[in-house]
Amino acid sequence: MKSKKINSLKVITSANEMQKISLAIRRKGKKKVSLVPTMGALHDGHLSLVRKAKKKDGIIIVTIFINPIQFNNKKDLEKYPSTIKKDIAKLEEVGVDYLFAPKLEEVYPKGYQTKVSVTDFKNHLCGATRVGHFDGVTSVVLKLFNITIPDYSYFGEKDLQQLIIIKQMVKDLNLPIKVISIPIVREKDGLAMSSRNIRLSKKARKIAPLIYKGLTRARDEFKKNNKVITKKIIKNLRTYYSSKNITCIEYIKIINPKDLSYPLTPDTKDYILVAIKLGSIRLIDNLKF
Ligand code: PAF
Repeated sequence: MKSKKINSLKVITSANEMQKISLAIRRKGKKKVSLVPTMGALHDGHLSLVRKAKKKDGIIIVTIFINPIQFNNKKDLEKYPSTIKKDIAKLEEVGVDYLFAPKLEEVYPKGYQTKVSVTDFKNHLCGATRVGHFDGVTSVVLKLFNITIPDYSYFGEKDLQQLIIIKQMVKDLNLPIKVISIPIVREKDGLAMSSRNIRLSKKARKIAPLIYKGLTRARDEFKKNNKVITKKIIKNLRTYYSSKNITCIEYIKIINPKDLSYPLTPDTKDYILVAIKLGSIRLIDNLKF
């Protein structure tokens, strides 16, 4: 057995062992398995997924694996925060049953070849510049699904495109898993929680909450006049951001989350999404109209 018991949290590093444990739980049939996949550097956003999962009163598995094949930028991968000891303490505190924290070779052993691709959705929004990113995400998530065999899996709405793509994969591949999404958790000043926030410079951290402020202004513009066209909302948001020295905008888009289409006039079901670089840190955020 390669596992180590830390209070009630069991830390598993072997995929085989994790799979055996999940299979045994599933076979007993008494408890449902909930999975919260993460790359670590856990914050309240991740813990809100765990807390939601705990409401099911089953077995909770959190995974921590910094997945290299979803990073299109080598530097971003190298600088991705790793805080495993703190993460374990947080998971113990919130009451997680298993942490699956495999080494790289455990997930991608020598000779590994398979990738999974959600072929259209992966090219939009973040996928337009982060080439290969979503293939990396879907490949690892499917693998984590196969290792942990969950009934439910939890994903945050901050990575809205990721959520839409994973739901599509689950549907396309008839995976017997219910994907549950959880609203964005924000800092007091409105900044969406992200593992990347700790890498923001002081100056960037100061202006970062204005990303969300801009989104709320765009939503208010729509609420005041629901005939307003997408183009105008986006133009006004660009003007607002540039007035606040937020100039490195990768995209501002309004989407229908059902099919990732771009409506000419938004609807209350639609979302406005942004990807913005502050210094070298790329942040994403979104808001429902
Ligand atoms: O959202 C993340 O943290 C990652 O993309 C995920 C889903 C854990 C896959 O590596």
